[in-house]
Amino acid sequence: MALRSENFLLRRYIEKAMVDLPAIPGIVIQVIQAADRDEVTTAEIEALISKDAAIATKILKVVNSAYFGLPRQVSTVGQAVVILGLHQVRNLAMSLGVLSALSSTNPRIMEYQKGFWSQSFASAACAQEVARMRGLPKKDQDAIFVGGLLHDIGRLFLITLFNLPYQQVIREAATTDLPLRLVEERVLGASHAELGAALAERWNFPEELVVMIRNHDGDFTQGQPYSEYCVHIADVLAAEIDDSELAVKPLPVSSDAAAWARLSDDDVERIKANIQIDVEKARELLGIL
Ligand SMILES: [Fe+2]
Ligand SMILES: [Fe+2]
Repeated sequence: MALRSENFLLRRYIEKAMVDLPAIPGIVIQVIQAADRDEVTTAEIEALISKDAAIATKILKVVNSAYFGLPRQVSTVGQAVVILGLHQVRNLAMSLGVLSALSSTNPRIMEYQKGFWSQSFASAACAQEVARMRGLPKKDQDAIFVGGLLHDIGRLFLITLFNLPYQQVIREAATTDLPLRLVEERVLGASHAELGAALAERWNFPEELVVMIRNHDGDFTQGQPYSEYCVHIADVLAAEIDDSELAVKPLPVSSDAAAWARLSDDDVERIKANIQIDVEKARELLGIL
């Protein structure tokens, strides 16, 4: 990716970090590829995931958490696949992969990351709710949930690896009232949406997810890109209730997305209230990972 920046050194560091990026576990990539094949079986996915004990254990912890609220304990990855479905388990594996690739042991950065993930869960719940309200199929709703969850991985990358310069970018956007994207492009050479899409591509994430990440600021693909609309709306609504240090003033929802979603003021208030509940549940989830 060609980065445009006034700050040559910072640009070089970011480019280098994109190349040297910690890999996500190989199993996650294999699960993504296997889940794409029509004839894949539950046994195959279970065998793959079981090869990586850390990922398998975390998947079971998440599945058995209050977040999913299943009526009985799930003790094998195979059961998890049967209950949640192949795509949900793949989505879970991708999210755990991101969590492990962009982790940190620095307590300050970990604090920022916690805020990041709460915000991401809020976006995920909101994106899925919009998809549900517009009657999109369940499979699309699941994909849109992950789009909401991972749409800002470019920010996570910056928070984790370029914390101080990125704090300055956020402060500048907040004090000048300029859109975050413009400040990012000028200082870092790329927006967090572009960086996130580049990361997702490097990690072989499904193309539909890469597109949701790249276009979440409102530069949509031609036609009626419903999933991009859902993630964009979620990004804006979640930002409106963001009270973390990393909060930036959200841009308005694009007119195309708004026209498609047809959300009333009541809908928006209800979604925001639900988001708060989901964020509470997600906090518990983050505690166990
Ligand atoms: Fe964003
Ligand atoms: Fe966002």
